[in-house]
Amino acid sequence: MEKEKLKQLLEDMSLEEKAGQMLQLMGAFYQDDVEGILTGPARELGVKAEDIRMAGSILGTYGADALKKIQKEYMERQPHHIPLLFMMDVIHGMKTIFPMPLAQGATFEPELSRKCNEAAAKEAAVSGLHVAFSPMADLVRDARWGRVMESTGEDPYLNSLFTAAEVKGFQGEDIGEPYRVCACIKHFAGYGGAVAGRDYNTVELCEHTFREFYLKAYQAGIDAGAGMVMTSFNTVNGVPATTNRWLMRDVLREEMGFEGVLISDFSAILETVAHGYSENEAKAAEYALNAGVDIDMMTSVYSANLAQLVREGIVEEAVLDEGVMRILELKNRLGLFENPYKDADGEKEKEILLCEEHRKLAREAAGKSFVLLKNDGILPLDMEKKIAFIGPYTDCREMISSWAITGDSGDCVTIREAAEEVFDSSRTVYLAGSPMLGNACELIGFTEKVPEKVTEEDRQRMIREAVEAAKGAEVVVMPMGEHYLQSGEATSRAMLEVPEVQMELFREIARVNENIVVVLFNGRPLDLREISRKAKAVLEVWLPGTEGGHAIVDVLTGKVNPSGKLPMSFPYCVGQVPVSYNEYSTGRPNLPGMKERFKSKYIDIPNAPLYPFGYGLSYTEFEVSPVELNSKELKDDKPVTAKVTVRNTGKAAGTEVVQLYLQDVSASVVRPVKELKSFEKVSLAPGESREVFFTIEEPMLRFLRADGTVGSEEGEFRVWIADSSASGDYQNFFYVKQ
Ligand code: GLC
Repeated sequence: MEKEKLKQLLEDMSLEEKAGQMLQLMGAFYQDDVEGILTGPARELGVKAEDIRMAGSILGTYGADALKKIQKEYMERQPHHIPLLFMMDVIHGMKTIFPMPLAQGATFEPELSRKCNEAAAKEAAVSGLHVAFSPMADLVRDARWGRVMESTGEDPYLNSLFTAAEVKGFQGEDIGEPYRVCACIKHFAGYGGAVAGRDYNTVELCEHTFREFYLKAYQAGIDAGAGMVMTSFNTVNGVPATTNRWLMRDVLREEMGFEGVLISDFSAILETVAHGYSENEAKAAEYALNAGVDIDMMTSVYSANLAQLVREGIVEEAVLDEGVMRILELKNRLGLFENPYKDADGEKEKEILLCEEHRKLAREAAGKSFVLLKNDGILPLDMEKKIAFIGPYTDCREMISSWAITGDSGDCVTIREAAEEVFDSSRTVYLAGSPMLGNACELIGFTEKVPEKVTEEDRQRMIREAVEAAKGAEVVVMPMGEHYLQSGEATSRAMLEVPEVQMELFREIARVNENIVVVLFNGRPLDLREISRKAKAVLEVWLPGTEGGHAIVDVLTGKVNPSGKLPMSFPYCVGQVPVSYNEYSTGRPNLPGMKERFKSKYIDIPNAPLYPFGYGLSYTEFEVSPVELNSKELKDDKPVTAKVTVRNTGKAAGTEVVQLYLQDVSASVVRPVKELKSFEKVSLAPGESREVFFTIEEPMLRFLRADGTVGSEEGEFRVWIADSSASGDYQNFFYVKQ
């Protein structure tokens, strides 16, 4: 529809209709018996029948036929027949579930995530959806926070590359094109910095850190064209993000250039009352609208107050119009005024969802996301040996995350199913060995199916049988780890252990068989000290998605050589978090080998995480030569070229992620001891070597300076090119402004 007609439509709309466009309700309000809804959840929300008639968008429902029916009936009743927007949490796949985002970060291959999101968008679009509440661009440093699984980790540069790629995967170049959906960057802003890793908690970040680390990936998503941003639950500078004019108008729209639709997180406008910020719901509506929030997700704060606030002159109708116009423009960009059903197509749903092509992509992505943390030569497995698979994930399909809400773990391939395709059944046994969680572990308030309780007698029997099986095996593979409901939203953990009931099994097995390979499932970094000490190999597989079983067996058998690198540090223990590689030096850095008292250190654990950012092993060995620089001076028009030679010195073909880190040794503000600035995945045959070049240029040196401007400063820099954030030696060069 032409812009003029949109303006005309807006002018013809009543205040109530405008406010209605800014309301988002669950799809259930349009499917189940309306009476039950009106007297049940709607009444609780203060939502009236008129609100349901006027709401501008729906979340949480999908399916081509269902959404086409809702759209048709809704448009007949809507005064100007304006189509609904259908939105959904498509976080890492729709029906074909790809590895969780933190696992995708471990691939160090943003292009692969673009492809995964492109596939997800296709499945979502034929299922009738228009908007995916993804990617989450929050930077994370605290493994206690359950939502680290939705991030791509602790580095702003890596997160920026992934966020941009994921937006492009969903949107392509034009969301009006077939099989494209609008991406929604979230949660703006700084949600990953929750104090003590406790979800929804206050965020205490100085503006410097906020801008230098936490805002970068949102900016990348906006620059990639994201059509929507979602507000975060937390406060920023003491003001809830959702009613924070500085954050949403000055920073998001003015500075960062975002022109799309700003949606609140679930009931976040109403929650500004509980925050102790908005005196009441009418004030919450006023503050959120003036902050530029366009859609109120799942409360009646906007629909019950905005028209009245305009009539009383408390908010200007022009501000309301601005928000409504952004919503109408999004609907228009999606082509909904011409075709309100866009790509919804029941036949195509059957053909495209979980198609072989998408399963193949899911298997590839999972295999590339795994990180080999330890391997004392026991992997890849010797197929001639007698192998016991012992662990609660052996036969478990639940390897998609708690955010894979449109997926079905029933579609997953288990490790056992995949193993039985390739291992000789006469030499292989499969047992759970223990329940996933101990009876004391309460997953309070969860609506999903939580693991069955096991009697102590049964549990002891499981262990006895497992120990017997382990005694008869040459190698024991132990698929174990967090239950998928132990990470995601509202799952903060104060302890970072693998469930104790599984650790008891692990210890019993280790007593009778030293050849243990742990296959670790988890949504967050865990304390792996005991497992790393006692197992001969540890393969991090995260929550690998629909094709997890196949991908794990591909790696265990050597069909795929692991190449993943940690996108988030694994702490030595929970006392060390938040921890990240890109920390500041402090005035008393505790450098390796120092034995002095008055240094920035712990007296009971090392400063270094157990496994650092960027770390991951391979079935082969790589040698990275010392860095060679073509000059010791970088000038504005004369970049420095850094070169290394990477050699595969092992016996298997493999892929190394060669990482470029810089340190600005002294500047007008303190600078991180290291910053990832570039990387390259290099695949080499045994014995093969290749020169890898990185161009270091002035924009890489820019930062938020003491005077509040962004730019570079002259001085000494150090450069590493290595296989992790904790390895390699540096060379130095000087940046000299012209
Ligand atoms: C949730 C999450 C957000 C999600 C939204 C809709 O509370 O914070 O990430 O997109 O509600 O489900």
